[in-house]
Amino acid sequence: MGNTVVVGAQWGDEGKAKITDLLATDADIIIRYQGGCNAGHTVVAEGKTYKFHLIPSGVLYKNKLCIISAGTVIYPTELKKEIDQLKTEGTNLEGLRIHPLASITMPWHIDIDGISEDKTAKTKIGTTKKGIGPTYADKVGRYGLKVEDLYDEEALNSKLDNILPLKNKILKEVYGLREYSKEEVLNLCEEYAEIFCPYVFWDWQEVLSEALKTGKKILFEGAQGVMLDIDWGTYPFVTSSNPIAGGAATGSGVGAKAIDEAIGVMKAYVTRVGEGPFISELEDETGKKIQTIGAEFGVTTGRARRCGWFDAVIAKYAALVSGLSGIALTKADVFDTFDEIKICTAYKDKRDGKIYRYYPTNVNTHKYLEPVYETHAGWKSDISNCQSYDELPQNAKKYFARLEELIGVKIKIISVGPNRNQTIILENPMN
Ligand code: GDP
Ligand code: IMO
Ligand code: MG
Repeated sequence: MGNTVVVGAQWGDEGKAKITDLLATDADIIIRYQGGCNAGHTVVAEGKTYKFHLIPSGVLYKNKLCIISAGTVIYPTELKKEIDQLKTEGTNLEGLRIHPLASITMPWHIDIDGISEDKTAKTKIGTTKKGIGPTYADKVGRYGLKVEDLYDEEALNSKLDNILPLKNKILKEVYGLREYSKEEVLNLCEEYAEIFCPYVFWDWQEVLSEALKTGKKILFEGAQGVMLDIDWGTYPFVTSSNPIAGGAATGSGVGAKAIDEAIGVMKAYVTRVGEGPFISELEDETGKKIQTIGAEFGVTTGRARRCGWFDAVIAKYAALVSGLSGIALTKADVFDTFDEIKICTAYKDKRDGKIYRYYPTNVNTHKYLEPVYETHAGWKSDISNCQSYDELPQNAKKYFARLEELIGVKIKIISVGPNRNQTIILENPMN
């Protein structure tokens, strides 16, 4: 128990922000370690709904450091909107820090994401069009800008002299998009420097070493989910970063040894936004029912989320690749009125009947796979006010126990509604 990573264990939107906000009570530092403003994180606190994209979901507490760390990509214009919105709502942003090594999304990244994803594009991923892929591509290609560059005139000038000629050629000749003059980009960079200025985490090494030495507690907030991970997800229908728990080690600058617990957040069913395989998807009335009761519409893009039964094959896979030490199971209350609930325990190949109990990573084969289900009786009662495990109906307990058995990881938190107090904590990973 101690420093904990909250990681999405499905295709995102599992309720990570609710769990992060909850565990943040016991944390001194909250670090968002990857992704960008593609994330949409909802926290309901004292009857008010907050939506975060880049700012860590622990920001509602005073006196905690909330770091947007080096593994993230930041589109300054969107970050400014988020900061302004939170300020208007009266949120104290004194603890907000932005890592000097975070990458910057430039307007051309947004332009390229937009055109690659427009209606005529042959292989759409269904991205959030926030420039995520193009920004990470430039970062990995050693062709990007970092927050610290904005405060170093010499470095910025030489980087832009290197970046702009080729970028403009690509924008114009490959994509038929507008070019950017150096003067225009320097002006933009000045604006960006002003946005970041009050928050840049220049003393991160002193602060984090001291925090580790003195036993301060760190909570790492993941965005997206394991199945959207660039290395481990349903590639190419993924995001461009590493949401898995290991991403917290590379993205936050404290090293893997500083992480004690990895809590995988899973809905009691599965959702997915955008394109890509989804074996337990329900394209029928049951899927619609889950979508309606679960209010499954995206926070960032407003798109309807595809819904399906809980998939224990991907849950087991997520447990492995993220080294999960516990599960936070969310949204079981969505099933309150259901007569029966199914769990996908394996996949069956329609061509030869072969059964897969472990996740087949080649997504090209997924079109041949169908879910193998087991059916459980519903609990047919309102669990949204249950405050303890004992108060849960027998059938709910049975369903949860079966999930634990299939995944091989303990459920440590059960969320039965969006509010902070609609949570049953069986074991707090932070203490
Ligand atoms: P995140 O991206 O993983 O942080 O999740 P989102 O915020 O995108 O989506 C989760 C949605 O479910 C939000 O609207 C939450 O307020 C809501 N939510 C979280 N936990 C529960 C729960 O246990 N029950 C219900 N009904 N809603 C929940
Ligand atoms: P949170 O943190 C759900 C999906 C997009 C698309 C794919 C690639 O709220 O769980 P991108 O814009 O990242 O290049 O899009 O990833 N996606 C998400 N789906 N929740 C998210 O974040 C997501 N962030 C990206 O829909 O399929
Ligand atoms: Mg979300």
